[in-house]
Amino acid sequence: METAKGFISIHLPLPLLLVWIVIACLVESASGGPAGELHRSQFPPSFLFGTATSSFQIEGAYLQGNKSLSNWDVFSHIPGKIEDGSNADVTDNHYNLFLEDVKLMKDLGVNAYRFSISWSRLLPKGRFGEVNPDGVEFYSQLIDALLERGITPFATLNHYDIPQLLEDRYGSWLSTEIQLDFAFFAETCFKEFGDRVRYWVTFNEPNVFIYDGYLIGTYPPSRCSEPFGNCTAGDSRLEPYVATHNLLLAHAAAVNIYRKKYQEKQGGMIGIVMSAPWYEPYSDTPADRLAAERVNAFNFAWFVDPLVFGDYPPEMRQVLGERLPIFTPEEKIKLAAKLDFIGINHYTVNYAMDCMFSPCPSPYSFGEAAVYFTGEKDGVYIGDPTAMSTFFVVPRGIKEMVMYTKKRYNNMPMFITENGYAQATASKEVLLNDTKRIEYQQSYLQSLSDAIREGADVRGYFVWSLLDNFEWLHGYLVRFGLYYVDFNTLERTPKLSALWYKDFLSGTGVSLHQPVTTSKAEVMAS
Ligand SMILES: *[C@@H]1O[C@H](CO)[C@@H](O)[C@H](O)[C@H]1NC(C)=O
Ligand SMILES: *[C@@H]1O[C@H](CO)[C@@H](O)[C@H](O)[C@H]1NC(C)=O
Ligand SMILES: *[C@@H]1O[C@H](CO)[C@@H](O)[C@H](O)[C@H]1NC(C)=O
Repeated sequence: METAKGFISIHLPLPLLLVWIVIACLVESASGGPAGELHRSQFPPSFLFGTATSSFQIEGAYLQGNKSLSNWDVFSHIPGKIEDGSNADVTDNHYNLFLEDVKLMKDLGVNAYRFSISWSRLLPKGRFGEVNPDGVEFYSQLIDALLERGITPFATLNHYDIPQLLEDRYGSWLSTEIQLDFAFFAETCFKEFGDRVRYWVTFNEPNVFIYDGYLIGTYPPSRCSEPFGNCTAGDSRLEPYVATHNLLLAHAAAVNIYRKKYQEKQGGMIGIVMSAPWYEPYSDTPADRLAAERVNAFNFAWFVDPLVFGDYPPEMRQVLGERLPIFTPEEKIKLAAKLDFIGINHYTVNYAMDCMFSPCPSPYSFGEAAVYFTGEKDGVYIGDPTAMSTFFVVPRGIKEMVMYTKKRYNNMPMFITENGYAQATASKEVLLNDTKRIEYQQSYLQSLSDAIREGADVRGYFVWSLLDNFEWLHGYLVRFGLYYVDFNTLERTPKLSALWYKDFLSGTGVSLHQPVTTSKAEVMAS
């Protein structure tokens, strides 16, 4: 609020200053405010503001409460898979500290929390065994603790981790059997928790775990083939499409059960969450513009088109032909219109370069889309780099992604289910003073509010993440938390960004726009 500082410096009488602030805020909320200005009132009163986590990344207690091993438990114990040689056996020990974590959320003033349910905790043997009472009790207590504090639970059924038994027994996503297991898992959750949970996500970022698990082989089950990656087994030109096919039908089966037996009674919504970076053409050439459209389709519409329209995107069919599985007419009916909302996990923008009509550095950097993506052009980054090598700070991306989704899917309800800033691990003092995270969240929220003002039906926003946690292949080297976690003592400490979020959510607003002062950081660190 540049002008406000000017007024304050000439010592405006207090009542006049208050009047000015009210007028200024009214004017700005009508006009959207100048760049850098952000206020809670730019979002609808019913808007969900929360933080997000996932079971494997925060729970720990990997052998406690009769949980079975998940695919990620097994994978992260294989030497060389995780960059810092760590695992998530303990991580934040949220399983035992969840009440403390719910209190942290209450302190922040969020009205929603996105978490995931560990499949191997709830159903250690999948559909071949009993429901685990300890698993039911844990999530039940978590949900009740949230509701008691006015925090809306937003539950993800599957966030990468599945019982290892389903991998060993029939090859998980490569088998049609997974449809039966996922439907059983989903129904168990609706039955046990649906009386209190109104927001369900079937899958978190299936586009990431299928791509990484079956195309380049860096995630479990480590399957791929040349030239996409180096694995001992797999077929990158076939398996990603087979796995996706089964996953989409599993989603449809779960949604059918929800709609038939639970939705009316429980009054909730069910959707999917996609990893949704935005891709911009590397240059103005028609080939690069087509490449950007193609990669957005290969990444995002690959999963969303079938669940809205009943078939894969034409952009993919054109390239892959018959290698993309064909849905039967019955399957098309089963799949179409199976989303109540789309969850968007958005962090960054990358450039897309054509590799179909032109030579380029690597023709396989996005599967078979024949697109090379990069965050750099002529030695200049697309935005400030972060601790994640492909993530750059480009706030316009969130608006672009939302407007693309709005247009392609007829303004279906959307939630920003993840958005956050990666810090490379460093001293506690440095990590607590996360001014770059504040700038990031603030500028992305500003851009999101522009999209809402232009008519996008966005209903909520979740910061990734509540806590520093186990960041998949990066282990503990990358930190996304609003709360710092000391992984030796498991003590949680609010970062400066936690204070910022709290200020923003309280709606007091005015103080938000002042530069972050050292004294505030010192208070935080003490
Ligand atoms: C775990 O399961 C066994 C049966 O398989 C049961 O006897 C035991 O009480 C359970 N332990 C806990 C902590 O629930
Ligand atoms: C696979 O490994 C071989 C030998 O180490 C290497 O030459 C090749 O570039 C690797 N391929 C990929 C896609 O990583
Ligand atoms: C926090 O970081 C800002 C720059 O990002 C710096 O100006 C300030 O001195 C830092 N404060 C502390 C307490 O380290």
